[in-house]
Amino acid sequence: MKHGLLLRRLGATAVLGLTVLLAGQTVSMAAGIGSNGSTTLAVTASLLPCDIYANGGTACVAAHSTTRALFANYNGPLYQVTRASDSTKEDIGVQAKGGYAKAGDQDAFCSGTTCIISIIYDQTSNKNDLAIEPKGGNGAADNGVPADALPVTAGGVKVYGASFSGHMGYRNVVGTMVARNGSPESMYMVTSGNHFNSGCCFDYGNAEISLNDTGNGHMDAINFGNERWSNFTVNGNGPWVQADLENGLFQSETGSSKDTTNTGDTEPYVTAMLKNDGQKNFALKHGNAQSGALSTSYSGPLPTTGFNPTYTPMKQEGSIVLGTGGDNSNGSIGSFFEGVMTAGVASDAVDNAVQANIVSVGYGGKSSTAGGVLSPDSTISLNATTPCCTTRYISQQSGGTAQSGTVVTAVISSASSTSNAQDGTWILRAGLADQTCYSFESRDYPGQFMRHYNFQIYRQPMDGSQQFRADATFCSEPGKVGQGFSFHSYNYPTRYLRHFNNTLYVSSNGGPNNFDTQNVWINDVSWLVTTPWAP
Ligand code: AHR
Ligand code: AHR
Repeated sequence: MKHGLLLRRLGATAVLGLTVLLAGQTVSMAAGIGSNGSTTLAVTASLLPCDIYANGGTACVAAHSTTRALFANYNGPLYQVTRASDSTKEDIGVQAKGGYAKAGDQDAFCSGTTCIISIIYDQTSNKNDLAIEPKGGNGAADNGVPADALPVTAGGVKVYGASFSGHMGYRNVVGTMVARNGSPESMYMVTSGNHFNSGCCFDYGNAEISLNDTGNGHMDAINFGNERWSNFTVNGNGPWVQADLENGLFQSETGSSKDTTNTGDTEPYVTAMLKNDGQKNFALKHGNAQSGALSTSYSGPLPTTGFNPTYTPMKQEGSIVLGTGGDNSNGSIGSFFEGVMTAGVASDAVDNAVQANIVSVGYGGKSSTAGGVLSPDSTISLNATTPCCTTRYISQQSGGTAQSGTVVTAVISSASSTSNAQDGTWILRAGLADQTCYSFESRDYPGQFMRHYNFQIYRQPMDGSQQFRADATFCSEPGKVGQGFSFHSYNYPTRYLRHFNNTLYVSSNGGPNNFDTQNVWINDVSWLVTTPWAP
């Protein structure tokens, strides 16, 4: 079977455009559709991923990124943000044609309030824009990601990735020109091996237009996380690049891993790739998005035996999903920087050239945050940043029955009693519902944690329930006020740990409760992590 264009190794000095290099060089591959990265392709530096795919004869049908243009001549908007203060929207574009995101526009527009990403635009002419995902067969309508939760650098400039913390997702419900009914396609996304979970399903790719599980082969999406499906066997602890082909996250035609070296991609930036000829074969590749080449973890037949009906041929429907499963199962977390889908199965040479371009971006570390260090199992205190209250620290109330367990801010100093110092001291734990987030255990009452109940914060014993775990888990972000950290609720991700009248709540900016007031909200939700008052 022919699998598009495959080039033999080219001389290192070849710097011609891809069109020239590829002309007439069609060869057959012996097995699979992504056997190995043994071919190289010289590309001019100015070609971006969708230029490379186009020149390989497998054009992008959708291209999404919050960080950069994916065509050298793209000069349009990358994404749209909506701010909380007045619900107005603004498009964030590129700094120059073919360049990186103009994150400064977002910072200016969202200053003094908060923004979510409301649309991630398609950079192809198909207008396959990703909007916040509506209700699906297995999940209520999702939230948009906080727009400023993932500041990183790309091309040496500050940009924002999209940080999904559960109940967040995007969809283009009926995609244009996206593969359907057994047509071949390729896709990749750049994600993070530092931000994942085992919830279903952090996906990017082809899904159902009904947002319901319509059966095997109706999805063809990249999945990334450490969710292990059914009785499939895996190697290591993940997270892995898998294929969500519906009703299963596959690492091979049996579901199980066939690559003992594929123990997971824990790098901060990961390239995840899936290719599927729609009829017989699929391939999975993964690599470090900051350096090196891709590895092929599987290339071979689509699932057949043991699955009824089988996945041959595929029955894709052409909806595009990001951040959830095909039926909007939305228990997953993850990070997204860029991704594309193509028509046709890209050659290995094209895959390699795309990976080289991703590496050339130089995706880089999170912007550093003054205001302390979040180190799991460390003992800390949490200092308010609002001008009224900079002598105050998050404290439990242990005296008196009525107030027992209430969490407040209290003035603490070196003159405070031992008991008061202890009340203002917490042990930072890996999140009870999500290890990439945090839970705050009482220093005085081991086994008791801060949790919200009716949106107020209490110190209560961990009861083992999933409800408690979720209510006691908070995910960190750079502080909304520009220093320290903000912590959003794991199960109410638009609500942040806030003090109001010196009492702790999870508060949404401008929400319905008195403790949601926008006045000094960004200060009230920003906390300095300090050395503990009672080590
Ligand atoms: O295939 C895994 C998941 O199963 C799909 O994403 C979802 O639609 C179904 O619940
Ligand atoms: O929690 C103390 C102050 O009370 C907060 O800064 C403000 O929101 C409210 O007035």
